[in-house]
Amino acid sequence: MSITAAEAYAPATVANLGVGFDILGLAVAEPGDTIRAEWSDTPGVTIADITGDGGKLPRESAKNTACVAAQSALKLAGETRGVRLTIHKGLPAASGLGSSAASAVAGAVAVNALMGEPLSRGDLLPPSLDGEAVASGYHPDNVAPCLFGGITLAVGLTADRVFSLPVPENLHLALVTPHIEVATALARAALPAEIPLKQMVSQTASVAELIHAIYTGDLDLMAAAMERDRVIEPAREHLMPFLRNVRAAAKRAGALGMVISGAGPTLLAVCNSKSTAEAAAASMKAVYELEGIGATAQASMVAHDGARVLRIEHK
Ligand code: HSE
Repeated sequence: MSITAAEAYAPATVANLGVGFDILGLAVAEPGDTIRAEWSDTPGVTIADITGDGGKLPRESAKNTACVAAQSALKLAGETRGVRLTIHKGLPAASGLGSSAASAVAGAVAVNALMGEPLSRGDLLPPSLDGEAVASGYHPDNVAPCLFGGITLAVGLTADRVFSLPVPENLHLALVTPHIEVATALARAALPAEIPLKQMVSQTASVAELIHAIYTGDLDLMAAAMERDRVIEPAREHLMPFLRNVRAAAKRAGALGMVISGAGPTLLAVCNSKSTAEAAAASMKAVYELEGIGATAQASMVAHDGARVLRIEHK
């Protein structure tokens, strides 16, 4: 029997966790992207169809994160046959939920399953990063939790440079996505190229405090450390409408802290119970709606698993 098709799912992720710019991230179970890979007589990786993207994503393979990741995984495995991808986007683009990373990871995991899994999960990190790089350069903070699940500290571009952190018990999340787009490239262009030494010390201290808080399961300290970002949020705040009002609303509802998810505009509130996360999500959403901006809200938790193979077909 030979494998004819494989389908993989890759979840949404939250990058940065406030102060951990480009190194920290976490996975949430939903939403996510699903990709089906099939062998094709056409060489290289081509797109059969993309659904759920409103026609926005590039159909040209060289510009599509899933295709580039899939091609890179095929090359790594020494596979020369052509592959056709069908991409179902569950994640909105440019929303701060790791949409481009999810497509890249789902593409790499799907073709690996199609090939009979010659590559390990860790092997799939560099190909997934090649895919993500097409959208916004090489940064592993979305791709790592998307592939491996949980909370990850990614200090390099290979699996041996990714560390899984413990997930604090009672860590509940409220995620609210206003229906506006903030292109990651634009949000990255807004950042300073250099920062003063004092800011560097403060940012390093906050990241170290955050890692300590995660290891000790201290949610109050975790939220405070996440929020203590003096570099990234101030430079991006103008791109996130009503950020201060949404933070105030989240805290009134009992959230311990709130930060921008990835490059935004999704905002993430840290909570210590399901009911608080639900209340915070509703209050944050209400701020946008009052201002005439539609928003999607969810109370969630860290997903321990990352991307998974959904289906394998044989003949
Ligand atoms: N660390 C990245 C950023 C995540 O904030 O620009 C975006 O994908």
